Amino acid sequence: MSFDRSVKIAPSILSADFANFGAEIRAIEAEGADWVHVDVMDGHFVPNLTFGPPAVKAFRPHVKTVMDVHLMITPVDPYIDAYAEAGADILTAHIEAGPHIHRTLQAIRGAGMKAGVALNPGTPAEAVAHLLDLTDLICVMTVNPGFGGQKFIDMTAKIRTLRQMIGDRPVHIEIDGGVDPKTAPLVVEAGADVLVAGSAVFKGGSVDNPGVYGDNMRAIRASVA
Ligand code: DX5
Ligand code: ZN
Repeated sequence: MSFDRSVKIAPSILSADFANFGAEIRAIEAEGADWVHVDVMDGHFVPNLTFGPPAVKAFRPHVKTVMDVHLMITPVDPYIDAYAEAGADILTAHIEAGPHIHRTLQAIRGAGMKAGVALNPGTPAEAVAHLLDLTDLICVMTVNPGFGGQKFIDMTAKIRTLRQMIGDRPVHIEIDGGVDPKTAPLVVEAGADVLVAGSAVFKGGSVDNPGVYGDNMRAIRASVA
């Protein structure tokens, strides 16, 4: 995975048909997705439950781009090896998920993956000040995590601060929650380069009508061009 700051669209398969993940992943990639965003929820750190390592491992052969796994779970450390084994390219943990995010990021890199750190809306940019050389991606949540389809919370001031803190380091700024053609320009202008989008990509489409996924992604790209 080479680093660049071009805008990348990472559809969240949280909004896909849960009975048809393989075909959904192939459809969004065929329609132009840059990465595939996989939301892992434990019904404990967040009030919703999705899937775990065996499911993520089953997704892997379908993902030809980048498998971007967002853990909304606590604890994280006991599961790091399982997600490496499942084939995650990027593994993101929440800073709020435990007292030892520094150790967690080291362990994720140690297991051969890119390490991401996610920040809930209430967590300030400064919380990652001492993690910048340990991380490959900072995920700025623009909703409280747990569900797709929520209203965008404006975090542009935080994104701007992070962009400045990152400087020349090869660290992505990813935005997760409520990204659509209206909100994407705000976050890209502030310094984001990875746009996670669930409902805005999947709405109106299906594996039998995947052109809609392509149209939805083109609408997001056009909004930031
Ligand atoms: C929220 C998840 C998101 C979610 C985004 O907890 O982390 O990735 O699927 O969904 P939308 O784009 O619908 O807000
Ligand atoms: Zn996510």
